[in-house]
Amino acid sequence: MGLAPAVQGDNAASLRIKPGPILLLGAPGVGKGTQAKELMARWGIPQISTGDLLRDNRDHGTALGLEAKQIMAQGKLVPDELVNQMVAERLKLPDTFDGYILDGYPRTLGQAHWLDGHIGTVPRALPVIAISIRVSYTQLLRRITGRRNCPVCGSIYNIYLQPPKVDELCDLDGTPLARRSDDTEEVLEERMRTYGLLTAPVVEHYRALGRFEEVDGEQPVNEVAAGVMAAVARLRG
Ligand code: AP5
Repeated sequence: MGLAPAVQGDNAASLRIKPGPILLLGAPGVGKGTQAKELMARWGIPQISTGDLLRDNRDHGTALGLEAKQIMAQGKLVPDELVNQMVAERLKLPDTFDGYILDGYPRTLGQAHWLDGHIGTVPRALPVIAISIRVSYTQLLRRITGRRNCPVCGSIYNIYLQPPKVDELCDLDGTPLARRSDDTEEVLEERMRTYGLLTAPVVEHYRALGRFEEVDGEQPVNEVAAGVMAAVARLRG
C-alpha cells in the first residue's frame, strides 16, 4: 500500500494556519520523508530533503554529487558549507515563501546556526518550528532494511510494513522499486553513530528554543501524521 495522504478531513482547523518553516528531526528511518509528504499534501508547501537533493546531485554526477558520494555511502555527513549552500539556493525559489518542510536538515549545530541566522534575514518570515519523531532502534532497523522507493514519483514503501500491492512495483505508476545503497545494517550503524554525535545536539538546540514538540513515530503512518499536524497547529496557534 502506498503512502497516500492519510489525514485529509480531520483537524480542519490546522488548514487555516500559515505553516511557515517546519523542521522534521529524527534518526535515520523514523519517517521524516513519509511525514513530510503528508504535510505537503495538507498545506501545499514543498518538502526540502537534503538527502534527496544530494542523491539527485550524485546521480547526475555534479561536482557536489561527486564530493558527497563516498561520504553518503559511509553514513557520514556531507560538510556543512556544501549543504548550507544547497539549502540557500533552494530557499530562494518562490514556492517556499508561505512555508516549507525541511527533512533531514539541519543535522549539525553549525547547520542549525546557519539556518537560524538565514531565517532572521528574511522579511516577515515566521520563526521555525521543530518536530522530532522518536522510534526504537529495532523498529528503525526494519524500516531501513525494508525500505523501497519509486525512482519516478518518489513514493516510499516498506516490504515489511508498507508493502506495494504488487511485489517490488510502485502502486501509482508500476515502476520497479529501488533500494538505497546506504540502507544496510552496517551503514545504519554508522548513520546512528553520526546521529547521536552530531544531530542529537540539534534536537536539544530546538527543544531549548521552545518552538518544539516530540511525536511518537512508532504508530501507523496516519496516527503519526495526526500527531505531527496537531503539534504544528499548537506550535503555530
Ligand atoms: P537522508 O536521506 O536524509 O537519510 P536519513 O536522515 O538517514 O533518513 P531516511 O531518509 O533514511 O529516513 P526517513 O526518516 O526519511 O524515513 P522514511 O520516511 O523514508 O540522508 C542520507 C545521507 O545524506 C546522510 O547519511 C548524509 O550522508 C547525507 N545528508 C543528508 N542530509 C544531510 C545534511 N543536512 N548534512 C550533511 N549530510 C547530509 O521511512 C523509512 C521507512 O519506514 C520506509 O520504508 C517507510 O515506508 C517506513 N515507515 C515510515 N513511517 C512508518 C510508520 N509510521 N509505520 C511503519 N513504517 C513506516
